[in-house]
Amino acid sequence: MGWTIRDAAAEDLGAILALERELFPEDAWPEEVVRAELAHPAGRYLAAVDAGGRVVGYAGLRVAGDQGDIQTIAVAAGFRRRGIARGMLVELLGEARRRRAADVLLEVRADNAGAIALYESLGFARIAVRPRYYPGGVDAVVMRLAPIPRRLPAPAVAGRRAPLVLGIETSCDETGIGIVRGDRLLANAIASSMAAHARYGGVVPEVAARAHLEALGPTLDRALAEAGVALDELDAIAVTNGPGLAGALMVGVAAAKALAVALGKPLYAVNHLVGHVGVDVLADEPLPMPTVALLVSGGHTSLLLVRDLVEDVELLGETLDDAAGEAFDKVARLLGLPYPGGPQIDLAAAAGDPSAIRFPRGLTRPKDLERHRHDFSFSGLKTAVARHVEALEDAGEPVPVADVAASFREAVADVLVSKAVAACTGLGIPRLLLGGGVSANARIRALAEERCAAAGIALRVPPLPLCTDNGAMIAALGAQLVVAGRAPSGLAFGADSTLPATVVQG
Ligand code: KG4
Ligand code: ZN
Repeated sequence: MGWTIRDAAAEDLGAILALERELFPEDAWPEEVVRAELAHPAGRYLAAVDAGGRVVGYAGLRVAGDQGDIQTIAVAAGFRRRGIARGMLVELLGEARRRRAADVLLEVRADNAGAIALYESLGFARIAVRPRYYPGGVDAVVMRLAPIPRRLPAPAVAGRRAPLVLGIETSCDETGIGIVRGDRLLANAIASSMAAHARYGGVVPEVAARAHLEALGPTLDRALAEAGVALDELDAIAVTNGPGLAGALMVGVAAAKALAVALGKPLYAVNHLVGHVGVDVLADEPLPMPTVALLVSGGHTSLLLVRDLVEDVELLGETLDDAAGEAFDKVARLLGLPYPGGPQIDLAAAAGDPSAIRFPRGLTRPKDLERHRHDFSFSGLKTAVARHVEALEDAGEPVPVADVAASFREAVADVLVSKAVAACTGLGIPRLLLGGGVSANARIRALAEERCAAAGIALRVPPLPLCTDNGAMIAALGAQLVVAGRAPSGLAFGADSTLPATVVQG
């Protein structure tokens, strides 16, 4: 049933050739040509594989100068009409755009109406005909897509327009109300109670819950005005019901239920963590599945394996103690920097030497890796920084804030990125999505880019306003549940502060 798309490798040569010969008996490409194409640096080849790992489709792109060319796109007979060709094409068009191609060309048999319709639905136009180009005297239609849209259309939902969904997020200190139409962002209104927590050096649950109560009404009004929609136009309402702070979650859940009942709209309870992954559709073309996601914020540090956003999310690992953002906030406090500490450390670190002090990398020793390959721990690191600072103070020496900040930041970035990249390579998944407020960190971004590029992993980092906690991510995930035909959650659900990542819909 299921299928996934991944990069084709030299090992796939035999399977691709067999499929090529089966599908194009009269004009199959010779082995040397396919081998060369697979390895060519100016292109990218994808393989679609079924649940058993068998290659059931392949597609290739070449970019020469500023022109992209879809070299081939083929799907085995029993696997057509499942969106595989479309999925591969969307991925290759994204690749062409990343390689700065101005347009993309392809050729298709004039008698292949299904393929022509698919290409037209993605924006390709017919520009020429090559008479009797294919065996049997069939013409080739040359099609061109220009420019390559930044946002490629999502898979069509038969007979339905994309749902208009309102999302409510109150799991931590951000009151977020977002509105989307399908995968299009219409509004992302946010009110943060961060300033109210500053003097405590961290989020105070009671203060956060009270702030949500006050901010919800005005934030809702702002979102509706920003999107230019009225409440009765909505197709559905989605709300975070966990994980997060219990009191804070309850405010959002109660508000969402009240709205749903008053308006007579279907209500979807959704998982906050999965929302961080689902938000990506608002910024980019659909992320091919499966993908690995690293979510790092003040409240979570989780590594997820997402095989299917609405039904198959696995928690690979998470922090055993502090969240990464919490570690940044606590270390900032040790260094006398204000809350929230992440951005402050990031700034201070820019002037420091990351190799000045070798701070520990939690759970990276071979013995730890046996049981905690995908888990994180930052409490040892935090203690090591505290000891280091205390020792200097006791000796009456000045604390080199920039060097400590840079060395600490390096340790966090190193552990986060190494574990995420190891998960991708270990699982054979060449895609990584970063999310959460800590992904704003300059060093984490740079190191992730560098190591993902070296390991052949495609890295996605949504724009920052969509990375930090927000309502649009909840609306986006809600819309994806609606499109997938999921039944609404009803009114019986409650806030669940420890909702596991595997439960996409609460
Ligand atoms: O996602 P977010 O806005 O809210 C939570 O769910 O917590 O993340 C906030 C966290 C805070 O701990 C903050 O210190 C951290 O993200 N943060 C950073 C940076 N910007 C924000 N941490 C490291 N470097 C940054 N540039
Ligand atoms: Zn979050």
